[in-house]
Amino acid sequence: MQESNIIVSEEFRSSEMVGKDSHTHRKETNGLKRCLTLQKRKALITGAAGFIGSHLSERLLSDGWAVVGVDNFDNFYDPQIKRRNISTCLANRDFRLIEADIRDVEAMNAACEDGAEIIIHLAAKAGVRPSIAQPLLYADVNINGTITLLEAATKHRIDKFIFGSSSSVYGNNSKVPFAEDDNVDFPISPYAATKKAAELICHTYHHLHGISVTCLRFFTVYGPRQRPDLAIHKFARLIEHGKPVPVYGDGTMMRDFTYIDDIIDGTVAAIDRLVNTDQCKGQTGVGTVGFKVYNLGESRPITVNELVAELEKALGKKAARKYLPPQPGDVERTYADITKAARELGYNPTTPIETGLAKFVAWLRSTQVQQKSI
Ligand SMILES: NC(=O)c1ccc[n+]([C@@H]2O[C@H](COP(=O)([O-])OP(=O)(O)OC[C@H]3O[C@@H](n4cnc5c(N)ncnc54)[C@H](O)[C@@H]3O)[C@@H](O)[C@H]2O)c1
Repeated sequence: MQESNIIVSEEFRSSEMVGKDSHTHRKETNGLKRCLTLQKRKALITGAAGFIGSHLSERLLSDGWAVVGVDNFDNFYDPQIKRRNISTCLANRDFRLIEADIRDVEAMNAACEDGAEIIIHLAAKAGVRPSIAQPLLYADVNINGTITLLEAATKHRIDKFIFGSSSSVYGNNSKVPFAEDDNVDFPISPYAATKKAAELICHTYHHLHGISVTCLRFFTVYGPRQRPDLAIHKFARLIEHGKPVPVYGDGTMMRDFTYIDDIIDGTVAAIDRLVNTDQCKGQTGVGTVGFKVYNLGESRPITVNELVAELEKALGKKAARKYLPPQPGDVERTYADITKAARELGYNPTTPIETGLAKFVAWLRSTQVQQKSI
């Protein structure tokens, strides 16, 4: 973090008000007690028990923030995995968990009442293929849930908001690498459409209520705690157990796999920018200071065939490949142009796929997760 996360406020109080807070330092001035209140910066993170949310919560706590985490432990994958993800945070006295649904108006108002200065909104129904089977549910959580949260933020005057968007908004964009000002009017899955819709609603709240918004378009994130439905995690478990890996299409589909630590560094840089930039308020329109969109990717895409080969190396085992027809909703490739994030956030991903996969495999083997849900 660029600046100290302790907010120091000086105020003059009558003597009976003093001494309530253990973080309060006192000194006498002209008969009045002078209070120096040391208060931690506080962030509200939705989806805090998920893959990215739990890493971000840990990072902010270790950077000196207090964190309010919201999660409903939905059953998209085993909620016990999420309980384990968040266990380290729960042991930290600066972390508070609110177990609630982001569509619950009362609960979101209560979460926003707790003094957070910024919201990092990561809770969502994730995943492209399942969104085709449950489009209404994806729309309800990802769009209505985002509106519910933005309403609560507005009501409680939280004017800094980061939205966890996705590379999937680029659809089958033929121009690569994907840049933030490319046209994203042609999503090819309900999931992608809900992420684009949520970006639009974020802009609306920015325009109407002066909330400074940053939308971060994450490109296929992997690493310890990765969601079990995602390719790297699924393929690694199958290879470990000597089972065939399903490769959709001919294996030439490309993904810009991005290591979790790089994503967290980029997200923290976006948080720093919002909390340290006063002029964020009141400016409208894409590209202005107050509403920003950034790609957070590795910018080094590889094919699915190359991914399987890298996994074979990392696991020290041969994979059996089972080629299947391409899946509806899957984009041909993702490839992040990170020029803007590099220039404005200092974003600089440093984890090549070989290093990231080695760390992922070490984590996988140290947990019991791989024995489940194959
Ligand atoms: N992992 C990736 O590769 C990737 C890529 C692009 C975008 N994203 C986005 O990043 C965010 C985090 O993704 P992740 O991979 O950590 O997913 P995740 O599923 O591990 O985390 C999401 C969390 O949100 C919670 N949640 C879901 N619905 C909720 C609701 N209605 N109310 C409260 N909590 C709810 C879940 O219980 C879960 O803990 C999501 O918004 C996702 O769309 C992820």
